[in-house]
Amino acid sequence: MNNRFPDHFLWGAAASGPQLEGAGSKYGKGKTVWDYWFETEPEKFYQQIGPETTSSFYSRYKEDILLMKDIGFNSFRTSISWARLLPDGTTINQEAVTFYRDVFSRLRENGIKPIVNLYHFDMPYRLHKKGGWENRETVEEFYRYAKAAFQTFGDLVNTWVTFNEPIVPVEMGYLNDKHLPAVYDLERAARAAYFTLLAHGKAVSAFRELANNGEIGIILNLTPSYPKSDLAEDREAAKWADILFNRSFLDPVVFGKYPVEMTEFLAKETIDVPYTDKELVLLMNNTVDFLGVNYYQPRRVQAGDKETGAGLDKYFKPYHWPKAKINPHRGWEIYEKGLYDIALNIRDNYRNIPWYVAENGIGVEGEEAFLDEHGEVQDDYRIHFMADHLRWLQKGMAEGANCFGYHVWTFLDNWSWLNEYKNRYGLLRLDLATQTRTKKKSAQWFKQVAETNQLPA
Ligand code: BG6
Repeated sequence: MNNRFPDHFLWGAAASGPQLEGAGSKYGKGKTVWDYWFETEPEKFYQQIGPETTSSFYSRYKEDILLMKDIGFNSFRTSISWARLLPDGTTINQEAVTFYRDVFSRLRENGIKPIVNLYHFDMPYRLHKKGGWENRETVEEFYRYAKAAFQTFGDLVNTWVTFNEPIVPVEMGYLNDKHLPAVYDLERAARAAYFTLLAHGKAVSAFRELANNGEIGIILNLTPSYPKSDLAEDREAAKWADILFNRSFLDPVVFGKYPVEMTEFLAKETIDVPYTDKELVLLMNNTVDFLGVNYYQPRRVQAGDKETGAGLDKYFKPYHWPKAKINPHRGWEIYEKGLYDIALNIRDNYRNIPWYVAENGIGVEGEEAFLDEHGEVQDDYRIHFMADHLRWLQKGMAEGANCFGYHVWTFLDNWSWLNEYKNRYGLLRLDLATQTRTKKKSAQWFKQVAETNQLPA
């Protein structure tokens, strides 16, 4: 089999402002919901490491960009911090402009295409206080922010993303306690999801109005849902998980409208989503140019308790597949074929829209156990993880999937929501105390793949 990837395939990594930059309260940055949460409940954060320092990209980006070049990247995705660029919502912070402009310029000078995301879970605290995504005003604020970003950086950035995994803050904040507001409330979840979608649509409309160069998309964690069995009720469960967690964003961003089953779901749950006809037209007219897809693990489900279940348990319940291969550190299933299933789903059901793998990676605890005598982490497990996923991706592409790149999560070990530095994902190891960066074995492997544009035989 030809194991080459197409010419101009994007190779690189994804990261986000809040997880990488540090300087959490410096250089004019406003407070985010994560800064606030850490201040008020530090015990929730693993080893009480907050979002202030993270991986100090703000002060070390020059050296980091050279490292990216050195390991073969031709692209890199990060996010702008909304609270850094517009601390009070209206006045542009010039220090942020200088910082981001220099980051994007240096990436370009080094042959690394910047892909820039506007929102990676980091709601400004001043908006969180007023209800965050439950408040329609946040949508207008986001529209203003998106415009400011396009106007300020549009000459340096051609590829834009509105949101990273918009379903995650909804799921983790309104059906779980891993993001604020940490409640279980389906109605509030639906409202927050709708305003997030509307904010995305308005940002796309701003991009088109300003006639920006380039393209705009969104990054979704398209988690394939697999039923426990072929029984109708298990298949029905998988369908609901897919509608609520994938298609609730995927269909509107690609086709401009919700799947019909969403209306059925909202009616059954007597949930009123506050949309207007005008807004639905806006969404219809502002679909995306491309998709980014984050893939870590599948979702396995079984029939829900139709009569007695509470909340989403009526529709589906989690199921632990006995054959699952689990990453013991993060507890996530590793199922490489999922990427192939995603590729074919987009090819067959989503007009074969251009897409790229925007995140894929493995988080491992205690990597110091794998240090060799030269101080290099021998992370063969990471190499296998990427290679196995890339092989399935290649199979999908050979069958017609329109994929244009692969970004690993992530470049350098970075801070994570509540888990902090417990699970390390980087191609580069970060020494937390000294902030020193050291290449892991996987960095060398990645360089070879990126530079030859193929998997080693
Ligand atoms: C993705 C997010 O869902 O998963 C990242 O976009 C996150 O922000 C990554 O860090 C890995 O998950 P975690 O929780 O192990 O850091």
